[in-house]
Amino acid sequence: MVGAGICGLAVAWRLADAGLRVRVVDRGAPGREATWAAGGMLAATLEAEPGEEGMVALARWSQGLWPGWAARLAAASGIDIGYRGDGTLQVATTRDELAALRHRHAFLTRLGLPVEWWDGGRLRGDEPGLSPDALAAIASPGDHQVDPRAVVPALLAACAAAGVEVSPRRAVTAVRRDGAAWTATCADGSGEGADALVVAAGSWSASIDGLAPADRPPVRPAKGQAVVLKMDPAAPLVRHVIWGAGVYLVPRADGRLYVGATVEDRGFDRAPTAGGLLSLLEGAWRLVPGLEELAVAELVTGLRPRSRDDLPIVGPGAAPGLHFATGHHRNGILLAPATAEIVAAGILGGTPPVGAAAFALDRFTKEVATPR
Ligand code: GLY
Repeated sequence: MVGAGICGLAVAWRLADAGLRVRVVDRGAPGREATWAAGGMLAATLEAEPGEEGMVALARWSQGLWPGWAARLAAASGIDIGYRGDGTLQVATTRDELAALRHRHAFLTRLGLPVEWWDGGRLRGDEPGLSPDALAAIASPGDHQVDPRAVVPALLAACAAAGVEVSPRRAVTAVRRDGAAWTATCADGSGEGADALVVAAGSWSASIDGLAPADRPPVRPAKGQAVVLKMDPAAPLVRHVIWGAGVYLVPRADGRLYVGATVEDRGFDRAPTAGGLLSLLEGAWRLVPGLEELAVAELVTGLRPRSRDDLPIVGPGAAPGLHFATGHHRNGILLAPATAEIVAAGILGGTPPVGAAAFALDRFTKEVATPR
């Protein structure tokens, strides 16, 4: 496994549980890149986009796997991963947003997704911290959340108990297929050999030498800035995950309020910017004015691995024994259990889940040039 983010570790745990000997190498500390910066929303419904029906099916499948996966993870590690089922509200605070929200509600309903329409009275009754400007919301009771910063140690403990060896601070620079085996060379000069190689290196997945052009995943970083505020855990300002225009709020049980997130094409730059923070805080304040009193606990930036078509790259590559678990963009936390199942089916020889083939890397080699 190259990469110890949530998807790499989820695959490693699944394979070790099935009896394979697994080693994970990571260029830094496990789980400290996109996973550590993530909001942890399991938002299969509210992330649904027109034209991405296959993605909605994958996301819904993974969302359905999450409660059982979370329970197994908590049992294997003894760590509470902050799974909360309070649901998510997408809120409109202006007439324009209300009109757009009605269209969105019709779209989600047409897809058969489980959403409700809440008027302003119901909304403010359930979430008194919301602005008096909150006009209505789409309620998505099935879009839950976890705390990614609790999932990381839980996965590491579960992996360790299953016999996975994790090597931090070993960047894989090149890989090579030698006969029936893969060899990986690390920046420190060390090497690893394996029957199967899984690339789960997030935004760095395209920078591993030795892969043939058809096996280079078209993945780039999508910078996300977020701000963490500190609520009183005994009297939290909000209980649901709340989405507004260009911003979302994720309340944790310990009082942290995660306000995310920008989506920026800035390469590997991860500096927080005044403009990014301004847009997040202004959007959050329009939803929940009382948060202006909260202390700032942390500024967060992370690099989502974004593929050329914004969809994940999961499943076998062209070379034998090569597999991918990358490109998860806005949905890495949500898709971790499904990713583990798809990659495990490819390596262990099981039947891949229906529709999984659509997320394999070979879709990019089938792209046709658009006539000018
Ligand atoms: N899933 C939300 C985000 O990536 O910002």
